[in-house]
Amino acid sequence: MKAIDGHTRTCGLIGNPVEHTLSPVIHNTLAELTNIGLCYVPFRVEEGQLEAAVKGAYALNLLGTNVTVPYKSDVIPFLKEIDPLAARIGAVNTLVRTEGGYKGYNTDMPGLYRAMCADGVKISGEKVLILGAGGVARAVTVLLLEKGAKEVILLNRTLEKAERIAQEVNVLAGRNFASAMANEDYGKLPADERYLVIQATSVGLHPHDEDVVIEDRSFYEKVHTGYDLIFNPARTKFMRLVEEQGGRAFNGAKMLLYQGIIAYELWTGTEVSEEQARLVAEAMQL
Ligand code: ATR
Repeated sequence: MKAIDGHTRTCGLIGNPVEHTLSPVIHNTLAELTNIGLCYVPFRVEEGQLEAAVKGAYALNLLGTNVTVPYKSDVIPFLKEIDPLAARIGAVNTLVRTEGGYKGYNTDMPGLYRAMCADGVKISGEKVLILGAGGVARAVTVLLLEKGAKEVILLNRTLEKAERIAQEVNVLAGRNFASAMANEDYGKLPADERYLVIQATSVGLHPHDEDVVIEDRSFYEKVHTGYDLIFNPARTKFMRLVEEQGGRAFNGAKMLLYQGIIAYELWTGTEVSEEQARLVAEAMQL
């Protein structure tokens, strides 16, 4: 790693909590691999301090930051500019320094797309089920629209939340692209259809490794590919159930890796090679 000196540029993570983040490993490893004088540190920002944090970051000449829970939407009013994809998604996880303020991007969804490409998972023309109807599920629905999925069905415990997202995204789509279904109604899906299923809830996250949104094995007969956005544990119960019914299953580790890589590319204007990406994944011990 380049020694920290008067030329070192600083990036960081704005969120709360930030103690368990892997982002410093991603970015400090990338700085080493690309031989750029950059240093990445976590900043825990308490409730009510977000505007001061963004202004302070700018005043301190930070090159950029990531933004995580609970501030991905709340940060938007404090930006100078927002990338159109991030605006459509309604969530920003990366701030990039520009003249007079930060520009906000979403690299989570491009990161997921790059991960799915690397895993050989096709979106274009696919019929997709999403489990969940939170901020992540909404973002995934927008990504799937952008990348040419045929249709999306959001399955959720609370039907109204899935309906709201479907409605909002259908306005963006200008057609009937997304629809909603309650979790327990999955039996109403056509019997002969198999889907790409994206698991976009926090159910099954460590230490609740044995939890899963839908337990019933007959659901998993409808799944040709299961993509869990959780990366800890590396093999969730959802993934196990998919595989037990003959489907392919992936976790969220590559999404985490690539959202970081895309942010780093935005900050530094460099292109990270696949070999460098592999080395970062190794450093993350995923
Ligand atoms: P995020 O913004 O990160 O997506 P969120 O808004 O808390 O997080 O959304 C979490 C999702 O997980 C929701 O879809 C939630 O279902 P509800 O909308 O019914 O709350 C879903 N979820 C959380 N715990 C669940 C559980 N035990 N069973 C089924 N779904 C669950």
